[in-house]
Amino acid sequence: MHDTLTRQWYPEAMSDHTFSTPLIVANWKSHKTWDEVGEWLSAYQAAKPTTTGTVAVAPAFPFLEYVADEIEEADLDLQLAVQDLSPFPPGAYTGAVSTANLSDLPIQFAILGHSERRRYFHETNQEVANKVDLAIEAGITPIVCVDEPYQLAQRAALSPQAVSKCVVAYEPVEAIGSGLPQPAEEAAKVIERIREDWGDVPIIYGGSVNEENLLSYLKVCQGVLVATHSLDGAEFAKLVKMAL
Ligand code: PGA
Repeated sequence: MHDTLTRQWYPEAMSDHTFSTPLIVANWKSHKTWDEVGEWLSAYQAAKPTTTGTVAVAPAFPFLEYVADEIEEADLDLQLAVQDLSPFPPGAYTGAVSTANLSDLPIQFAILGHSERRRYFHETNQEVANKVDLAIEAGITPIVCVDEPYQLAQRAALSPQAVSKCVVAYEPVEAIGSGLPQPAEEAAKVIERIREDWGDVPIIYGGSVNEENLLSYLKVCQGVLVATHSLDGAEFAKLVKMAL
């Protein structure tokens, strides 16, 4: 049993969009075995990056408790995130993981509507909106992933109250896992449009973030979502050190 979090995450000094407290999120997707999770944690712990911002890691569901235990034991400055949530309340929905299932774990963030969920699991904007509502109800901060073509439709599917509690992850699909990051100047233009449409919410960038381009994104938004270069604990710790 863990102390669960009841506060919604929100960065400091949002009003002037300062970037002194970035959000760095590691998305492991469905990578890793139990042993590999242990290796990652040892490597990250050895590097022990100090943070002024917020760093979160999103393992696959079976590893959440293991990672939560290790964070507590080693006193790591690391938050826990999930990669998805059920769009339904607890009940007869085989295979789904509801917020009630997670209620004894200190989950701070939920990555929702990732383009891989939309593409391979046919998730719709409305389903993502349902997940956002359930996350907020459970005190979990939704990180809503969007690309430019549907960011507005996704926002429209959310209630105005829900929008104000989201973090938006701008992830151009062609940049994800491709090694072809969108240059920060281009990303900045889209991020500006997203800001106009979504209002004063934190926006982070995702798509082939690495140690060469990380700082350029932190100049134009409030954090990054990293998958490929988060899979190695030492490499991810290096990114964290650079950013904070
Ligand atoms: P990548 O993936 O860092 O491997 O490009 C980003 C993501 O899927 O969020």
